[in-house]
Amino acid sequence: MASWCKVTCYDGAACFFRNHSAEEREHMLKIIQYLNELKIHAEIPSIEKPSQNMKSLEQVCKTALKNEQNVTKLINKIIDTAQKANDHRTNVFLEWFVNEQIEEEDLFETIMQEFDVIGLDKLALYEIDKILDRLKNIKDA
Ligand SMILES: [Fe+2]
Repeated sequence: MASWCKVTCYDGAACFFRNHSAEEREHMLKIIQYLNELKIHAEIPSIEKPSQNMKSLEQVCKTALKNEQNVTKLINKIIDTAQKANDHRTNVFLEWFVNEQIEEEDLFETIMQEFDVIGLDKLALYEIDKILDRLKNIKDA
């Protein structure tokens, strides 16, 4: 997504998605570290090749929101499994991810609202690109 944004001259969005990608990697490492501390080998499955056919900045952001919603579902599924297994430790560990997903979904829903409010013409997209640039470090604040 960052790559598509950069090539399409949405530099703010490119920066936003690059930072977000680094953040997602940190989240993965959190899980790996948790497993490793329990002396469990972490298995990293291959992921589906990202779509190369993005048509608009709105589509990119909508896809990111859908991805976050999907991650939320997966986190909830792991929590269900932990609770069924009376694995309280994992349940507590995953609480952080529940809160994180609330933030993530809120962030992308807010971005999607910008398209509704500001619009989809060239000037609106220029403005949304600037907004994404400002949002790039919002989670570090
Ligand atoms: Fe995320």
